[in-house]
Amino acid sequence: MSTDWNISFIGPGVMAEGMIQGLLRKKVAQPESIIAAGPSEDRLIQLQQQYGIEVLTDNATASKKADVIVLSVKPQRLERVLAGLRGAIRPNALVLSIVAGASIQKISDGLDHEVIVRSMPNTPAQIGEGITVWTASSEVSEEQLRITRQILSALGEEVYVEEERYLDMATALSGTGPAYVFLFMEAMVDAGVHLGFPRRIAERLVAQTVRGSVDYYQRRDDPVHLARLRNEVTSPGGTSAAALYYLEKAGFRTAISRAIWAAYVRSQELGRDAKSHPPDKSIPGNE
Ligand SMILES: NC(=O)c1ccc[n+]([C@@H]2O[C@H](COP(=O)([O-])OP(=O)(O)OC[C@H]3O[C@@H](n4cnc5c(N)ncnc54)[C@H](OP(=O)(O)O)[C@@H]3O)[C@@H](O)[C@H]2O)c1
Repeated sequence: MSTDWNISFIGPGVMAEGMIQGLLRKKVAQPESIIAAGPSEDRLIQLQQQYGIEVLTDNATASKKADVIVLSVKPQRLERVLAGLRGAIRPNALVLSIVAGASIQKISDGLDHEVIVRSMPNTPAQIGEGITVWTASSEVSEEQLRITRQILSALGEEVYVEEERYLDMATALSGTGPAYVFLFMEAMVDAGVHLGFPRRIAERLVAQTVRGSVDYYQRRDDPVHLARLRNEVTSPGGTSAAALYYLEKAGFRTAISRAIWAAYVRSQELGRDAKSHPPDKSIPGNE
């Protein structure tokens, strides 16, 4: 499928490269319709050589040339980058932000531009296995919504939400989610080593157990509640029952719930430019 739109990435980092790879792999865009802009010439040359795309050190020039401008800088850099792009974006161009915590209002104010999509991808997006939650300002056209779907599909699955408040929730659930999964896996691997497995074998056992469990859940013809699958592997008086009793007793479920709630609150704070997280008053010493 060929495209008649140009796309510029402002911030040619890990996520931008994941998107570029996905766009090219899925043939959503050709190299000649992609521009990457950023401060490091070495990085730009590397991207140019690897993907055959155009590169520029000037963000404003890259934006002027584009129908879609992807904001893919770190949140701390955003304000300065927006100031530099003010007035350099075509009136009807689409600005697609993947910057965590940056509200549509903030981007719109910074750019003096109203055609904006805010999205929240996650790390597996880098290999096309992510899930991105996104929403759009009312100025985004039907055609631009379609283009956004195409672009975000290059990162894996995409989920459109009507209301921006779901973006903070998605940040806590799927955006930050890989961190919880990796911690859980790391703890399982360590437990395997504690039991006596060589680490490499423990890692294989854990990775395939997680992958297989997800596939087993997702590939069933009939949607099933997770609790049912858990019950299937829990025979009376057996090993799973012993382990699950201990996890519940240790507050596993509550810990996950509170952790995700904390990430949600933090995401909202970051959106308001709060510099630090207030102390958790439930922890002794912080009252
Ligand atoms: N990584 C994830 O899994 C993930 C998930 C969800 C959302 N996000 C969001 O995606 C965004 C990018 O994250 P990332 O992991 O790709 O970060 P990254 O690898 O650090 O990429 C940021 C890029 O921006 C460049 N940059 C710095 N200052 C710039 C400027 N003034 N103008 C243009 N480019 C500039 C950096 O160049 P130098 O390195 O030379 O400074 C770097 O190439 C972040 O806002 C993050 O919140 C990331």
